[in-house]
Amino acid sequence: MFREGSANASTLKAWGLSRSFGSGDMLTVALNEVGLELKAGQLVLLMGPSGSGKSTLLAVLSGLMKPDAGKVTALGQDLWGMTETQREAFRLKNFGFIFQGYNLFPALTARQQLEMILRWGNGARAREATERADAMLALLGLSKKAGLRPAQLSGGEKQRVAIGRALIKEPTFCFADEPTAALDWKHGEQVVELLRAAAHDAGATILIVAHDARLIPFADRVLHLEDGVIAEGAERPMALYGGSHASV
Ligand SMILES: Nc1ncnc2c1ncn2[C@@H]1O[C@H](COP(=O)(O)OP(=O)(O)O)[C@@H](O)[C@H]1O
Ligand SMILES: [Mg+2]
Repeated sequence: MFREGSANASTLKAWGLSRSFGSGDMLTVALNEVGLELKAGQLVLLMGPSGSGKSTLLAVLSGLMKPDAGKVTALGQDLWGMTETQREAFRLKNFGFIFQGYNLFPALTARQQLEMILRWGNGARAREATERADAMLALLGLSKKAGLRPAQLSGGEKQRVAIGRALIKEPTFCFADEPTAALDWKHGEQVVELLRAAAHDAGATILIVAHDARLIPFADRVLHLEDGVIAEGAERPMALYGGSHASV
């Protein structure tokens, strides 16, 4: 059930992406002419030390932060050539996001956070939305927490709700920034397995930004970002982060 093209079709391409912050003595070059290509059906892990530009790159690739220079195409469309309204509609239709910090609605229960995506985003009926929300919560080990609001959930539980919210609409792309950072490894592994299934079974294009070396064995490809420049290959990060069994 590939949504666009076939497995291994290029779904996202970037050329010459640059982004700086500040000016003069305070200038930080977060991205320096970064290029990459992502394919449907693959989980790509983007690693790099803190401050290396990972979150900036994710934001630029996913249409959230305009680059100073460069181009991004998603499904062949020029993301930064669209109007803001077009880009928002494109993101709503095609992108799922998992952020650090969850971005859950304080007034809604875990079940309602997921139902809302299906009711508003996909136009699902109430009953279908509830059934699918409950199925996703069960998959995330959150069935008993379905009726609780964010303030009543632990950090790890909130993170899992945020992940459920990103995946429930079966997006063509999923962008995740440190999705396992707040989780113990049992739940972290569940989450990365879910993301991997979205890529391998549903043909989604998944980009995970993280510095957690335990994710490396789950990735189809590992990219390494350092000082705003990208390099391919797991060898370096494996050494840098102390091997696949290192904890964060
Ligand atoms: N809004 C901002 N204003 C100023 N500097 C920023 C801003 N966002 C990021 N930076 C700087 O850009 C660099 C890359 O940041 P970031 O992309 O968040 O790195 P990472 O996610 O790899 O930790 C860092 O030096 C950071 O301080
Ligand atoms: Mg970051």
